[in-house]
Amino acid sequence: MLIYYIKNIFKNIIYGLFPSLVIKIKKPTGRGGTTKINSYHFDIFNSYFKHLDVEDIQEFIRDKTVVEIGPGNVLGTAFYSIVYGAKKVICIDRFPVVFFKEQYNNFVSLIDYLPNHLKGKASEILKNYDDLKNRIVYYSDLTGRFTHIPDIKADIILSNAVLEHVYDLPSLFNMLSKISDKNALMFHGVDLRSHTMHYKNELDFLNVPIILWKLMTCFRGAPNRITRSEYINIFESHNFKILRELIVKKYDTATVKEYILYNKKNTVDIKDLEIAIIGFVCKVC
Ligand SMILES: C[S@@+](CC[C@H](N)C(=O)[O-])C[C@H]1O[C@@H](n2cnc3c(N)ncnc32)[C@H](O)[C@@H]1O
Repeated sequence: MLIYYIKNIFKNIIYGLFPSLVIKIKKPTGRGGTTKINSYHFDIFNSYFKHLDVEDIQEFIRDKTVVEIGPGNVLGTAFYSIVYGAKKVICIDRFPVVFFKEQYNNFVSLIDYLPNHLKGKASEILKNYDDLKNRIVYYSDLTGRFTHIPDIKADIILSNAVLEHVYDLPSLFNMLSKISDKNALMFHGVDLRSHTMHYKNELDFLNVPIILWKLMTCFRGAPNRITRSEYINIFESHNFKILRELIVKKYDTATVKEYILYNKKNTVDIKDLEIAIIGFVCKVC
């Protein structure tokens, strides 16, 4: 166990001292230098609307303002949203690593995954690159507070695999409730797992004392360990009503049972412990 702590604290320090090098070597999803363009970005885009129960994306997104939190380094959802008819897309990420010029080549490659009837439209959009640059806006704030985001009136707010990396969720949700239009819909996909930072049982990272957890993760941006019930409280206390919870992946019963058996002090509700990946569909209330 001591080795597990020391190893992870050491890794965290390496992340803190040499962030660019780690990103170069590890190429984590959605972050880092160049991420190979494949169908991943189109799959994520489609899955957002599937989760929102939208049948005709073009019809639904037309003239809307879309916000994506934590898009990563390829602005796939932003580009596809514009091609499908969105008026504007606002990307909000903690890190400012996306340089818009580099996106052009990404956008060209993203066209390959579109249905044939939209490929021509996408190419036309890329011809008017200045207009596209005005319609996809990127804001970053290393503090994660985003106090400088203007009043945008967002219609659709999306995130995938982001909220579990956010340490100050109340600040993020204060900002989201300020910029949401009165009928805004949100989808957040949240991976509640350890991100490979457990010891033996997949849930035992929940048990690491808070100070040690911070020493192991503060530079890595690894999971905040917020549970399903805590997310629900955060949404509701910022005036977002949960319309649906989508359980994407559950832990094995044996994993949950073993964790409870060896962690008599566990205070997390068993229903929360069972869930590994979850999606929340919310609306402003
Ligand atoms: C695992 S990546 C997911 C990227 C992309 N959404 C995907 O599905 O591939 C997490 C993203 O969240 C961003 N992020 C981390 N902390 C954040 C924060 N406090 N606010 C906004 N974005 C954040 C990271 O910079 C990164 O782009």
